[in-house]
Amino acid sequence: MGMTSLLEIRGLHVGFKIFDGLLKVLAGVELAIGEGERVGLVGETGCGKTTTVKSVLRVLPIPPARLDGGEILYRAQDILKMKPREVRHLRRTELTAIFQDPLQALNPVFTVGTQLRDIVLDSLAAAGQRLTRKEITARCVQALAETGMPDPERIMSNYPIQLSGGMRQRVCIAEALIKSAKLLLADEPTTNLDVTIQDQILRKLDELVEEKGMSVLMITHSLGVVMDLTERVYIMYAGTIVEEGRTEELFARPLHPYTQGLMKSVPKLTGEGISKGIAGRIPNYLEPPSGCRFHPRCEHAMPICEEERPPLFSTGVNRRVACFLYQRS
Ligand SMILES: Nc1ncnc2c1ncn2[C@@H]1O[C@H](COP(=O)(O)OP(=O)(O)OP(=O)(O)O)[C@@H](O)[C@H]1O
Ligand code: SF4
Ligand SMILES: [Mg+2]
Repeated sequence: MGMTSLLEIRGLHVGFKIFDGLLKVLAGVELAIGEGERVGLVGETGCGKTTTVKSVLRVLPIPPARLDGGEILYRAQDILKMKPREVRHLRRTELTAIFQDPLQALNPVFTVGTQLRDIVLDSLAAAGQRLTRKEITARCVQALAETGMPDPERIMSNYPIQLSGGMRQRVCIAEALIKSAKLLLADEPTTNLDVTIQDQILRKLDELVEEKGMSVLMITHSLGVVMDLTERVYIMYAGTIVEEGRTEELFARPLHPYTQGLMKSVPKLTGEGISKGIAGRIPNYLEPPSGCRFHPRCEHAMPICEEERPPLFSTGVNRRVACFLYQRS
């Protein structure tokens, strides 16, 4: 990615201070997203995907969260070093997110129309622009219509609680896309919906993102979604990136033992749950395994794996894997 990266996470360490001690969750996450690129982030539950997204948005609760190092460069500027005002500006203009639970993201006491208008007003103010009330309303209705929402004019005067789960998630998508942001962080945006709706919504989202030339980080448990909707993918295990590559290539030839187990456990890439085929569990973050965090579960583990942390070894263009099996001596 290098020079053309819109977002670049370097060596990100995040912990959570709890009663029993420090959960060392993110341990040196490395991830980049280029302009207009659609990137996937995959890993089993608890591996740190949401923590990564929340770090980028600077919405981690500190404490209990604790930043223990690293950089998050957005257009070469470190988000972690920005003043709260600058971060807010970024979120009003360039950065946007969709989370798993739309009810939590939407305000129950305001109508859909009020919430959408507020976002438009806010982003106009941030850009130093003005529109008439009529123009703003038209833009909101259009944004809803674009998500495939039936009867968008009527929905404008509804409260979130009056809508179905799928409709609420469409509202969240409209909210995320209405401010013409550059980078969308989509954190399992359809997990709570039923499967047919999930598929419709993801496809719509993908269409809109493509149309607007946005960059996307798509977080999901579903390998099928990643396969269909991303160009490049990162595999995460226990707070570390274990492998990255072009999606098609990585799926055709997974290199990391964890990724190989993942793929074996989902033979047809149907998008169902992952990691059924790998023995053992994600480690305890209070005392994570030394060296390679996967070593207690790895059938190829060597003495060095317990002692040293494998860096990401490059095995080709856009292809890296954090495993000593690929170290060229
Ligand atoms: N507020 C918090 N306080 C304490 N620990 C936390 C907190 N948030 C996250 N964690 C810890 O960080 C780990 C990673 O959580 P995170 O939500 O980032 O995982 P995830 O990959 O998004 O999982 P999922 O697929 O279930 O959404 C969890 O196992 C949990 O132990
Ligand atoms: S570094 Fe060692 S333990 Fe880790 S995945 Fe590779 S072989 Fe297995
Ligand atoms: Mg999550």
